[in-house]
Amino acid sequence: MIINHLQNELTTLEQKGLKRSLRVVDGSQGSRIIVDGHKVLNFCSNNYLGLADDPRLKQAAIKAIEEEGVGSGASRLVCGNMTAHQQLEKRLAEFKQTENCLVFSTGYMANVGIISSLFDRGDIIFSDRLNHASIIDGIRLSQAECKRYPHCDMQVLEKMIKANAGFKRRCIITDSVFSMDGDIAPLDRIVELAKKYNCLVMIDEAHGFGVLGKSGKGAAEHFGVNADIDIQMGTLSKAAGSFGAYCCGSNELISFLINKARSFIYTTALPPSVAAASLQAVEIIASDQDLRQRLWNNTNYLREELNKLGFNTFNSQTPIIPILTKDAALAVEFSKRLFENSIFISAIRPPTVPINTARLRLTVMVSHTKEDLDFVLKAFAEIGKDLCLI
Ligand SMILES: Cc1ncc(COP(=O)(O)O)c(C=O)c1O
Repeated sequence: MIINHLQNELTTLEQKGLKRSLRVVDGSQGSRIIVDGHKVLNFCSNNYLGLADDPRLKQAAIKAIEEEGVGSGASRLVCGNMTAHQQLEKRLAEFKQTENCLVFSTGYMANVGIISSLFDRGDIIFSDRLNHASIIDGIRLSQAECKRYPHCDMQVLEKMIKANAGFKRRCIITDSVFSMDGDIAPLDRIVELAKKYNCLVMIDEAHGFGVLGKSGKGAAEHFGVNADIDIQMGTLSKAAGSFGAYCCGSNELISFLINKARSFIYTTALPPSVAAASLQAVEIIASDQDLRQRLWNNTNYLREELNKLGFNTFNSQTPIIPILTKDAALAVEFSKRLFENSIFISAIRPPTVPINTARLRLTVMVSHTKEDLDFVLKAFAEIGKDLCLI
């Protein structure tokens, strides 16, 4: 009975062009990988700065494994809190210029744990309509009232805030860089509204950390509002090339999360090797501005050329470049044709993105050469014409 139901759902997904399956990748997350046995150019990894296979990170992880072993043995509050975790949190707080920091096992767990522990019935959260699934799940778990505002629409957000007085706490939560659109939330305007109406602000810098801002601190630095954001969450799994996530903020906030965030309390601590690799990544991000500049050179070149070809790249301003196909089956066909040309770019379909906005999600890395970018542009021009997208 249950099995029949599952099969029916799967068949429906297949008929709508929405069924997903796993592909197998060999090799580290560089510009060239092997997918299902085929050597391809990789244009869908979030390893923006190429740190996932940087020798310095590998060395830091190996050293930690040799000195402290593989697993951390228990949750942070039991006996899993090791020197590597403490060092990483201290360095992140210093880098982000906040009083304190807490590391979570993943970005998903960070958002779920932070939001569900901080907010409750009687509170209200204003959430951008395109926020990441982990924010949405955190809000659901919190049981706070939630109002979703149209993507980056500050006029509607202000109206919503005005219309919803009388709550215990009000908080605006937004991705700083939207993971499927590649645009940047107007944090300057959000902070202005928060000050005017006495709201808290939480941002998710998953795709901003290491990429935006003069020293790579993220979108808060880019807009010069670092000191005005109450809760700064970000991941160590994307530009930092490692794994895990952070929450930066006041001493009081961090102490509260240590006591209340269930996804922090009831899980085994990150392996020390992962914390050590992340620490090395933070040092590189903080000191190597040239690396970031090269990522931006690649990004600006590719986006400009795609626009010149006539592709719709939404309002992308970052190394995440969406290519709108609208139709899910068309996105799958585009991705398949690219794969036949040795280029790996995933099709992104509902429910990850709204209906009728299926797309390819192309990500740029510092490790792409000019030849790689030109090779992709040539394939896009040919296939895009064939599929009547340009
Ligand atoms: C905006 C955003 N927030 C949170 C996450 C979750 O982070 P993680 O992959 O570390 O769980 C992701 C990516 O997966 C993301 O894109």
